[in-house]
Amino acid sequence: FKEFRYALANLGPVGRSFAKTLANAERGIRRQKSREMPEASGDVKAVIGEPMFIPLYKLYLTYGGVFRLTFGPKSFVIVSDAAVAKHLLRDNAKGYSKGILAEILEFVMGKGLIPADAEVWRVRRRAIVPALHRKYVAAMMDLFGKSTQNLCTKLDIAINNGEDVEMESLFSKLTLDIIGKAVFNYDFDSLSHDEGIVEAVYVALREAEARSTAIIPYWNLPFAQAIFPRQRKVATSLKLINDTLDTIITTCKKIVEEEDVDFHDEYMSDRDPSILHFLLASGDEVSSKQLRDDLMTLLIAGHETTAAVLTWTFYLLSQNPIVVEKLQSEVDATLGERMPTVADMKNLKYTTRVINESMRLYPQPPVLIRRALEDDKLGKFTVKKGDDIFISIWNLHRSPSYWVNPEEFNPERWPLDGPDPNEVTQNFRYLPFGGGQRKCVGDMFATYESITAVAMLARRYNFDLAVDAPPVGMTTGATIHTSSGLKMTVTRRARPVIFPVMERPIVTAMNKNGSVARY
Ligand code: HEM
Repeated sequence: FKEFRYALANLGPVGRSFAKTLANAERGIRRQKSREMPEASGDVKAVIGEPMFIPLYKLYLTYGGVFRLTFGPKSFVIVSDAAVAKHLLRDNAKGYSKGILAEILEFVMGKGLIPADAEVWRVRRRAIVPALHRKYVAAMMDLFGKSTQNLCTKLDIAINNGEDVEMESLFSKLTLDIIGKAVFNYDFDSLSHDEGIVEAVYVALREAEARSTAIIPYWNLPFAQAIFPRQRKVATSLKLINDTLDTIITTCKKIVEEEDVDFHDEYMSDRDPSILHFLLASGDEVSSKQLRDDLMTLLIAGHETTAAVLTWTFYLLSQNPIVVEKLQSEVDATLGERMPTVADMKNLKYTTRVINESMRLYPQPPVLIRRALEDDKLGKFTVKKGDDIFISIWNLHRSPSYWVNPEEFNPERWPLDGPDPNEVTQNFRYLPFGGGQRKCVGDMFATYESITAVAMLARRYNFDLAVDAPPVGMTTGATIHTSSGLKMTVTRRARPVIFPVMERPIVTAMNKNGSVARY
């Protein structure tokens, strides 16, 4: 075109005028092309067998921070750009719903906070957030410690029997036991038994994960329950869970009615500090169905996420002995034999950085889902109403544009005297708990829970991958699971460790070296 334009320009005034028009048209086409979203189209088979976020990472390196991925008639916009993520999650959050996620989770969470549309969400978020006040989270420290101690008892038995342990399922049980007590004061005691209601919870969870990775919505097929035995099991499990929740709610209502409640901002019943008790005592006017949806949502949101964080943290630690040494010396110096308290949380700085870094490499969930409620601009690209959008936290957290050696596990990348990394301090390149109005309500809860578990376990044991452990691959549902478990050999640390004191010290005594021991 360039030569042609030069030739035209040499043909006198008319030719020059034509050449100008042509140049303008070329510029227009170039501008138009730069505004067109890059498009990757693929065969759905290419992403089967791999967790979905892995091929998305490869596509991101080719197509950039915003591109469209098309499979036959379906298309998704994939976002791996921090500024665009900030726009979606914070600046124009109102322009987006939870889309497919809400459709998938409806069967188990109903209109709970995670899938809720704007109207329900506004009311329920306002009711639930105050329940997770500072005093409540501080009161949960005792629960985190006691539950981790139950896990220690399990590990001690395995050590005494010379057995290896599958840590992923143990972390899942630990966090289920914690969240059951924390949300509705129910003791699943799944570390001791896994039948009945515990099994029902896992059936529901696995079904939610299966639906989130399914290519066709098999559950909507007519007579799905008649065709698929698993769907019948899901229905029976949900019934058991709902009945149990109804009983829990009725019992709690009765207790609250009998109490002389003096409700205030940081209200907490000493007898039952659960979120359910807070909601009922607050006089929250809510239908039983909505309350059940809220409880179920909190149970699911707070369970496998934290379990996955612990699983991948211990996997990473098993690959990084120098980090373990630093972690153990911090815990020894800060806690000694004590149970962690809320005051320790700010002093266990390196432990926190280990968890921050683990959540960078293994974000839970690795992808956030949205749907455009109106046409909008994502940077220079346009999205249309109804477009489904995946914000890949995995890509953001491993982007070579945002991180030095992004694949390296390096807790030192977060200075100990710097601010705790979050979406605000990292300008939306780091989103372990999301950001904007739909940000996680349990971020502090989950952080303290994880610090407590990591500190107590690392203080007492060394964890190594078992010699015959299967390779630690990834598979995904809502969170990143290992493909075949995390089989570890656990050994007691050589350093003599006394089992930590549970409650406030009952007896104190002087040690030979003059220090005070508490029993
Ligand atoms: C939302 C992560 C623990 C309750 C979220 C979101 C993320 C997240 C990324 C945003 C989802 C989105 O924008 O689509 C995590 C991680 C956890 C954790 C990594 C553990 C380490 C918890 C706990 C609870 C909880 C312990 C409850 C006690 C919720 C709820 C929402 C949420 C209710 C929905 C908030 C809303 O839409 O208003 N979480 N979470 N999470 N999380 Fe967490």
